[in-house]
Amino acid sequence: MTDAQNAAERIAALRSELDAHNYRYYVLDEPSVPDAEYDRLFRELQALEADHPELVTPDSPTQRVGGAALSAFGEVRHEVPMLSLGNAFEEGDLLDFDRRVREGLDLPAGDLFGGGAEIGYSCEPKLDGLAVSLLYEQGRLVRGATRGDGSMGEDISANVRTIRSVPLKLQGKGWPAVLEVRGEVFMSKAGFERLNAAQAETGGKTFANPRNAAAGSLRQLDPKITASRPLEFCCYGVGRVEGIVFATQVGMIEQLREWGLPISRELKLAKGAEACLDYYRDIGERRASLAYEIDGVVFKVNDIGQQRELGFRAREPRWAIAHKFPASEELTELLDVEFQVGRTGAVTPVARLRPVKVAGVMVANATLHNMDEVARLGVMIGDTVIIRRAGDVIPQVMQVVTERRPADARPVEVPQCCPVCGSAVERTQLVKRSKGKETFSEGSVYRCVGRLACAAQLKQAIIHFVSRRAMDIDGLGDKIVEQLVDKGLVASPADLYTLTYEQVVELEGFAELSTNNLLASIAESRTPTLARFIYALGIPDVGEETAKLLARALGSLERIEQALPEVLTYLPDVGGEVAYEIHSFFEDAHNRAVIEQLLARGVELQDQGELHAEFAASTTLGGFLDKLNIPFVAATGAKNLAERFQTLEGVIGADWLDLSAMKGLNEKARQSVREFFAKPENAERARAIEAQLRDFGMHWQSEKKVVEGLPLAGQTWVLTGTLDVMSRDVAKEKLESLGAKVAGSVSAKTSCVVAGPGAGSKLAKANELGVKVMDEQAFVALLDGYGA
Ligand code: IVH
Repeated sequence: MTDAQNAAERIAALRSELDAHNYRYYVLDEPSVPDAEYDRLFRELQALEADHPELVTPDSPTQRVGGAALSAFGEVRHEVPMLSLGNAFEEGDLLDFDRRVREGLDLPAGDLFGGGAEIGYSCEPKLDGLAVSLLYEQGRLVRGATRGDGSMGEDISANVRTIRSVPLKLQGKGWPAVLEVRGEVFMSKAGFERLNAAQAETGGKTFANPRNAAAGSLRQLDPKITASRPLEFCCYGVGRVEGIVFATQVGMIEQLREWGLPISRELKLAKGAEACLDYYRDIGERRASLAYEIDGVVFKVNDIGQQRELGFRAREPRWAIAHKFPASEELTELLDVEFQVGRTGAVTPVARLRPVKVAGVMVANATLHNMDEVARLGVMIGDTVIIRRAGDVIPQVMQVVTERRPADARPVEVPQCCPVCGSAVERTQLVKRSKGKETFSEGSVYRCVGRLACAAQLKQAIIHFVSRRAMDIDGLGDKIVEQLVDKGLVASPADLYTLTYEQVVELEGFAELSTNNLLASIAESRTPTLARFIYALGIPDVGEETAKLLARALGSLERIEQALPEVLTYLPDVGGEVAYEIHSFFEDAHNRAVIEQLLARGVELQDQGELHAEFAASTTLGGFLDKLNIPFVAATGAKNLAERFQTLEGVIGADWLDLSAMKGLNEKARQSVREFFAKPENAERARAIEAQLRDFGMHWQSEKKVVEGLPLAGQTWVLTGTLDVMSRDVAKEKLESLGAKVAGSVSAKTSCVVAGPGAGSKLAKANELGVKVMDEQAFVALLDGYGA
C-alpha cells in the first residue's frame, strides 16, 4: 500500500469519526468524547489534508473554517416559496385556528371519520433566529440560502458550511436524491454573551440580542467571520423533496434527525387545541431556562395529507400557526408626536420616545396607528407610557401612566396642513351602505389631499410602483426615487417612462453604465401582467392577492375599472369596503389620467382577455336581492322573493297585490320592497348591477335550479394525493361549480374519490368500501366533458 493510499484511508476514517462525534454532540445531544479528544482528531485530519491537498473534499469537517470572501451574495430562487406564519396572541386565537382547521377539513366536532375530530398537531418552540434553506443533493450539502422575500433569497452556502451542527453530508440511508431542509439559524444565549464579551474586548461591534447577532454573523461576505461565531441550526421542515413522500410532520422531523439534522428537543405531538395550549403554557414556564431565545411556539397539523388539503392563504399556510408569548414592556417618556405621510396620504401619528431598551433593543419611536388610538389611549405629550415590543413587530404604545402626567403635558393635535406638502389634511369619511341607505361617519384616518402633488405620497407611490412584486424595476432604490422626485423629474409613475439618459446620468451616483442599466430595466418593465399592474397602482387595501384575483376574475383593465362595487363583492374575499376603495380609485379623474398616461407611454398589459367563471358558482337571484340591502328583508325573505318572482324585473314590477299574496315575507318587509323599488334610482342601480354581472359572464340562475340542475348535484367527492394539472383549490371549485360537495374524508356515502400520486389512507378506505376511484387524467376528462 502506498503512502497516499494510507493517508486516504486514515483521512476517511478520521472524517467519519469526527462526523459521528458531531452528530452525537449536535443532534443527539450526547457528547461521546471530551472536547480535547475531538480537537486532537481534528488536528490530525488537518495535518494529513495539508500534506495531501488533493484529498481535500468540500464535505470534510475541516472545511467549516470558511473559504475565500465574496464580493456579494448570489441570488437563489426558492422553488417552493418560504412562507411566513400567522400569529395567535391569545388562547382564543388558537381555538379559532383549530376551528378553521377542522372546518377546512370538513371535520366538525364529533365527526365519525375525524377520529373524534381532534386534530393532531406537531408542537415546537418558535426560535428567534433566521430562516434558512439547506439543499442536499445525493446526500451532500450543495447550497444554503436565506429566506429573502420568500421567493428569492441570498446564496449563503459558504457561510452555512461553517455551522458545526449543519451536516455537510447526510447520515444513515434512505434519504431522497433531492432534499431541501428548512430551519432556523440562531445563537444561544450563552453564545451571544460570549460573542459580545469578545467583541467588546477587541473593540468590535456588539449586538443588541442573539437574533441580531445571528443575522449579522450569517450575512457576512467573509465566511471566516461566520466560522468564528457560535451559530447553531435547528430544522423544522422541508422545501423541495424528490423521491419520497412524508406522511406526518412529526414523522418527517424525526426522519430528518436520523439523517443527521438537528431538531428541537421540545418537539411533541399534541391531540387537539387544549393539548396545544398545555404545551404553550409548559414552554412558557420554561422559557427563561431554555438555552436559546424563543418568541412563541409553532403548531402544525401533523397529517401531511391534511396539510395539503388545507393549503395556503396568501403567504401563510392554513395548517400552521405561531402562538406568540406576550411581549416585553418598558416605561418611558413620550417626548413628542410627529406625523408621517404614507403612500395613500394617511397622516399617521408617530411617538418620539426617550430611548429605552425593550427586550434587548433600543426603542426611540413607536407607532400610534391613528387618532382614534391616540384618543383611546388618552395620551398627551410629556406622558409616561408603557411600550411593548413583540419580536420583530414595530414597538407599540400600550398604555399611559396617568398618575405620572406632568403639569405641562400637551394634547396631541393633528396638523391642519400636510407636514410635507402643505395641502389640507382631511378626516376620511366612512361610507356604510346598509339597508339601502348610505350613512357617513368619521373615519379614524386623516389624509393629506395632495396625493401625487405631495412629495411624500409621490415617493411612496413610486417606491411601491417599482417594487419587485409590482412593476419590478431593478436599480430604482428609495434614494434614487427621492432624487427623482426632489429634482422634479418625476411627478407621477408615468413619468418614469419619459426619463432620458441626460436626466438620469446627472443623478448622484450614476455613470454611463448604471444609467443605461436603469433605462433598460424601466423599458423592460413595460409589459407587466395585468395583476402586477393593478397591484402597482397602489389602490388602498388592494394587496398582491386581491390584485391577482381581480386580474384573474375580470381579465381586463377595462372591466376592473368599470366594475361596480356591488359586483366586486361577488368575488371571494372582497368585502364591501375593499370594493368601495377599488371603485372610487378608478372613478377618480386624476388616477384615470395617470393610467392613461402609462398606457400612452408604452405600458402594455399582458395576459388580458378571458373572464373567469369565478362569479358563476355562487350567484342566485336571492343572494343578489340580499346584497341590495332592502330594509327589513333578510336573506330568507330575499330568497322567497326570488322564488316567487324569478327575475329582477319581476321583483321590481311586483305590485301590492302580488306582494300581499306572497308567503314568506312579513307585512313590514313587503311594504319596504315596494318603497325601495318605487325609487327610480334604486331600481336603476339594481338593473345596472345585474346587467354588469351578466356582462361579466355570470350565469344567472333562479333559486333551486342552481344546485339541483347541476350534473353532480347531491354527490360528495373527496380529493386525495397530489394533483398535477390543477391545484386542489381549483379542483374543489370546479367540482362545486358542477354541484358536488367536496369532503375531507371518505365514507360509504362518498360518490367518488380522485386519487393522485401519493394517495394513502383515503384511497385505501375508498377501496375497502368499494367507493369509485379515478385518477387525475380521468377527472380532467370528466371536467372537460362538462365544460368545467
Ligand atoms: S415553520 C410554513 N417552525 O418563524 C411554515 N417556523 O413566522 C413556515 N420559525 O420564517 C415556518 N421556529 O424563521 C416554523 N418551529 C418553527 C419555527 C419557525 C422559528 C420562524 C421561521 C419563519 C418564521 C415564520
